[in-house]
Amino acid sequence: MKIKKAEKTPKYFIKTFGCQANYADSERISGFYNSRGFKEVNTLKQADEIIINTCSIRQSAEDRVRGLITNIKSQKSSAKITLTGCMVGMAAHDPTGKALKKLIYWLPEVDEFLPLEEVGFSYPAIRKDLKHAWVPISNGCNNFCTFCVVPFTRGREVSRPFEEIISEVKSLTENGYNHITLIGQNVNSYGADLVKKNKLFQLPDGNKIKPIWVSHLGRLRIPTIFPQLLEQLSKNKKLTKISFLTSNPWDFSDELIKVIADNPAIDRYIHLPVQSGDDEILKKMNRWYTSTEYLNLVNKIRKNIPNVEIGTDIIVGFPGESKVAFNNTVKLCKKVGFSVGFVSEYSDREITAAHKAFGDNISSDEKNRRFHILDKLTNPKVFNSNAKN
Ligand code: SAH
Ligand code: SF4
Ligand code: F3S
Repeated sequence: MKIKKAEKTPKYFIKTFGCQANYADSERISGFYNSRGFKEVNTLKQADEIIINTCSIRQSAEDRVRGLITNIKSQKSSAKITLTGCMVGMAAHDPTGKALKKLIYWLPEVDEFLPLEEVGFSYPAIRKDLKHAWVPISNGCNNFCTFCVVPFTRGREVSRPFEEIISEVKSLTENGYNHITLIGQNVNSYGADLVKKNKLFQLPDGNKIKPIWVSHLGRLRIPTIFPQLLEQLSKNKKLTKISFLTSNPWDFSDELIKVIADNPAIDRYIHLPVQSGDDEILKKMNRWYTSTEYLNLVNKIRKNIPNVEIGTDIIVGFPGESKVAFNNTVKLCKKVGFSVGFVSEYSDREITAAHKAFGDNISSDEKNRRFHILDKLTNPKVFNSNAKN
């Protein structure tokens, strides 16, 4: 009798581009592959399948994906190439099919397109870190800032069930984790889709809570139960640090400030993207605050949470950003004194409202000049330590 040779275990390599949400997604994509009998390897060369988790936020992020695929092919690799993440999300959310056609045309070497929805939240994350864990609590965004592709790539905001998050974190702490980072594109609007209008929300322990409504620019926005989620998680005393990314200024309620102030395990670093310090530009960006409202919020946070550090994201060279408008951003940065800043040169994305309404009229030299000024101003730790070297 002939004994059949055992089939070779297929091996995959995963390369992640983009933000922390993508890193968190890659851990679940690994769970998805492992559950189908694959094994992860650490080099491209060993892989039978290469999964590329992509980002679309700027053209440069997409260009890096193109470059990696060219590199794989130049090594005569015969591995299957699977594309996932935001570039695929953009195609999957386009009902006309045009975006997918464009993607296939631009990246003909790709063998499979894997939309994130096929992976979902339910596969166990394969974590490399033993103490810190990324915990996605929502996916997608409803805000439609005019420069941003995220509502098109990840779709509308979907919150994970409250109970599921609490139990995932409980099992993490039982397994030795003591630091978590809650992840959402708009983390502090968590739960808007879980609560019903004028109804109380029932917590896993049976208690009922009133969702928080935040008012900005004279309008009530959406209800959220993010402060209550943080409060419940803070009861887990095995957690020594609870971080969260990314908060939008317009959903940063007084209740949220109070929960942070009352619970020392919640991170004293708050990432609060401002994008611009000029009111006209903020309006054109469809951001729901003025520079004064942003400054007032920062002051309120600082008053209530001693030793807090604030970080930010800024875009330079948004269409129509005059020298005066840019100077308003410089002034705002000086007033706030950010600890960390992620400054980006505006990248014109075809699908966005800004592309359709305003084009892209600041030269790359000027964007670059503005980038350096703000990069230096918003990253004092990096630049001060470099100056000493
Ligand atoms: N949800 C977060 C940001 C997510 S995108 C928020 O609302 O702040 C991460 C960052 O990428 C943004 O904060 C912005 O600074 C930058 N970004 C987004 N679209 C961009 C574009 N078209 N060009 C340049 N930078 C962009
Ligand atoms: Fe993009 Fe604005 Fe949503 Fe942030 S809030 S992901 S910048 S649309
Ligand atoms: Fe990029 Fe998608 Fe994150 S576009 S920044 S990977 S949400």
